[in-house]
Formats: sequence, C-alpha cells, structure tokens
Amino acid sequence: MAEFTLPPHSVVKKGKQVNKVEGKNVKQFKIYRWDPETGANPRIDIYEIDLDKCGPMVLDALIKIKNEIDPTLTFRRSCREGVCGSCAMNIDGTNTLACTKTIAEIKGAVKVYPLPHMDVIKDLIPDLTHFYEQYASIKPWLVTDTTQPPDREMLQSKKDRSKLDGLYECILCACCSTSCPSYWWNSERYLGPSVLLQAYRWIVDSRDENTGERLDQLEDSFRLYRCHTIMNCTNTCPKHLNPAKNISEIKKLLIERQ
Ligand code: SF4
Ligand code: SF4
Ligand code: FES
Repeated sequence: MAEFTLPPHSVVKKGKQVNKVEGKNVKQFKIYRWDPETGANPRIDIYEIDLDKCGPMVLDALIKIKNEIDPTLTFRRSCREGVCGSCAMNIDGTNTLACTKTIAEIKGAVKVYPLPHMDVIKDLIPDLTHFYEQYASIKPWLVTDTTQPPDREMLQSKKDRSKLDGLYECILCACCSTSCPSYWWNSERYLGPSVLLQAYRWIVDSRDENTGERLDQLEDSFRLYRCHTIMNCTNTCPKHLNPAKNISEIKKLLIERQ
C-alpha cells in the first residue's frame, strides 16, 4: 500500500502555552500558528481565556487574545455579523464563521485552524487568490444583449425573484469548498461548491441573457462533474444553504437542453 507522509517543514509541532489564567470559567484555545518569515514549522499554541471577561463567540476570544495577550496572532474579520465571510476558519473540526460560532457549544479546548487544504499566508489566513479567480471566471454579473432603457430598472416578477432565494445569501466564505474532498484533490480544475452555487445564481436569474454560454462553460468533466454528491458542502455551510442541490440543478439543466 502506498504510504504518504507530509514534507518535514509542514508537520505541525507542539507550540507553547502562552499564558495562564486563574478563575472558575477558564477555557483553553489551541490555535494553529505559522509565520512564513521565521521558516519554522507550524505549531499549536495554547491560550487561556476567562470566559466571564469575554464575549460569547469564538471571534470575541480571538480578538481578546490579539488585543490583550498576543498581538502577533493573525486572522481575518470584518463585520462580526456573519455577513462578510472573512472570519471563516476551522473550529472544533468544522469549517465555520468565528463570529457566529458560540464558545459555549464547544466541549473542552477550542481548536482553531485555518480553512483546510488551502495555502496559508499566516496563522489563520488562507490564500484565497485561486478561489477568487475561479469566482471571476463564472462572470458573476448580469450579462445582457438587449439594450436596456436607461430610465428604469430591469423588472423581475415575484416568482422569478424567488428563484434567487437560497442563492443570494451566499457570502463567499469558502467553508463549503474547503470541506469538499473533490475540491481538495482537484481545486486547480474543479470549481467547487461555492463557485458553482454562484454560477447557478446567474443561470437562474431571469434578467440574464447569457444562460447558454454559462452552461457551455460548465459542461466539463472537471469544472462541474467532479462533484460526487458527497454533501460535505451543504452540511458545513454556516448560512444553511444547499450548494449540493444547486450543483444537481445545473446538471439537470445540462441534461434537459440536450
Ligand atoms: S454556500 Fe455557504 S459555505 Fe459556501 S461560500 Fe456560500 S455561504 Fe459560504
Ligand atoms: S456535494 Fe459535491 S460539491 Fe458538495 S462536498 Fe460533495 S462533491 Fe463537493
Ligand atoms: S467577521 Fe464577517 S462573517 Fe465573521
């Protein structure tokens, strides 16, 4: 049987216990750390937080650590309302948003890693360059051939508008794509659930006039058909969307047009 081992420089080492806190409601946070400038292996550092002096979300704890204990801890965040998608990370074994994940629902130490199977820029920050390039490739905007009257909006019936429900809510956090085994192994060519959900969002928009070309672009054994309906994407989405279903809908449209 083939044996796979990690390159020595990417093996995650034991880090240090950064601080100790006294109190009745103390929680440990075990956090992935990696600094490209040191050349050292990644490590897991341990921090302690008195939950009586911290907000309820994992993001509150990360901000407290950065502000009061270790300013070198690096992570993305912006809205702290589950809207911007920038605080996506792997918490307690699941890809989710640090700002909507409560500390109380995690038993034992809180383990925090960057989104899996992505290059890491530093600590909890994944490199999303390729992910965004894939997003741009599906032309995430309305494409029209007909000249629109400049003095009014492009109208849409309530029924057509409702087709965008369950799609427009996607915040491009990448939790789903980075939980998808097909995306892990083929991310160079497979678009992944997040970008495919977005592709479907423009395909079903009644105002778009580029549907045929959009479907042509997706009719590809890698770009679309690497999805094997494993459903990790739908199970992990912090916005409770269903990219696996949307991918099936694209496949159905491709069959119907034959
Ligand atoms: S479908 Fe869900 S998990 Fe995937 S990018 Fe959109 S919001 Fe994030
Ligand atoms: S359903 Fe498709 S996109 Fe979702 S995790 Fe499975 S293979 Fe990936
Ligand atoms: S900070 Fe914006 S989604 Fe978490």
